[in-house]
Amino acid sequence: MNAETLAAGLAADRARVDARLEALFGEGDAAVPRLDAAMRHGVLVGGKRLRPVLVYAAGRALGAEQSALDFPAMAIELVHAYSLVHDDLPAMDDDDLRRGQPTVHRAYDEATAILAGDALQALAFEVLARNSHSRLPAMVRTLAGAAGRDGMVAGQALDLAAVGGHPDVCALATMHGHKTGALIRAAVRLGGLVAVAEDDPRLDALDAYARAIGLAFQIHDDVLDVTGDTATLGKVSGADAARDKPTYPALLGLEGARARAAELVENAVAALAPLGDGAAPLTALARYMIERDH
Ligand code: IPE
Ligand code: IPE
Ligand code: MG
Ligand code: MG
Ligand code: MG
Repeated sequence: MNAETLAAGLAADRARVDARLEALFGEGDAAVPRLDAAMRHGVLVGGKRLRPVLVYAAGRALGAEQSALDFPAMAIELVHAYSLVHDDLPAMDDDDLRRGQPTVHRAYDEATAILAGDALQALAFEVLARNSHSRLPAMVRTLAGAAGRDGMVAGQALDLAAVGGHPDVCALATMHGHKTGALIRAAVRLGGLVAVAEDDPRLDALDAYARAIGLAFQIHDDVLDVTGDTATLGKVSGADAARDKPTYPALLGLEGARARAAELVENAVAALAPLGDGAAPLTALARYMIERDH
């Protein structure tokens, strides 16, 4: 698949999930307009929508119906958006800029940002449950497991505990695998579950792919924090070093981190072999993980 075809496909999937998220926030009257506005700010303003795009690409690779992928695609983005709202809070990374805009606690206030994150997570599961799919219970388990104490939240706890410390590369991989990898794995699995049963071996191939791109994605996020500029990133560059966060570039150097991410992407591509030609968009997405500039 060439870069132009990939870009068009990414843009179409992104527009599709954007339209559905926009419509979601247009439903009914908000009980608390200020809370609703903060949630909208956290979700609708910018974002690459990579996790929804992964839901669509993984689902299509196994023959899923496009319309059955919409609810999982929205749900994973809502959990991701909640994770960013909380990640930016003063008690966490204390960031002022996200997706080129003031962070939610900056645009509103801290309590509203905490509540907006809480409500986004609940909304994610409500939206997922709109899918009247026979494998809905497996989807709920997948998303809940990836979000919670054995997934993203565990990773965030490890991240905070590691500040100023010197974890080795194994501990860093565990932290990244949880804080970022878990939701990326969930995105790919949700797409797969729309198409095939839980014991289908193609889900294992997808999971090997997702594990590898999830770690590569966070390594590249760490690299961009060093090499990127604030305007392009839409978030303040150099923030990790300023907060003494353990990162791949800090541990392996920039070239070492880049090499590790590239190796992981090749592992991810190799894992797709059993899926045949339908996996071409997933291959292209794997490469995009470490070629992106924001
Ligand atoms: C940022 O994720 C947080 C990490 C897990 C590194 P993205 O880079 O996907 O952020 P958006 O959604 O495009 O803003
Ligand atoms: C974010 O990791 C992980 C989650 C939000 C769960 P980072 O803290 O590195 O993400 P950015 O750099 O703020 O986007
Ligand atoms: Mg963080
Ligand atoms: Mg952060
Ligand atoms: Mg980062």
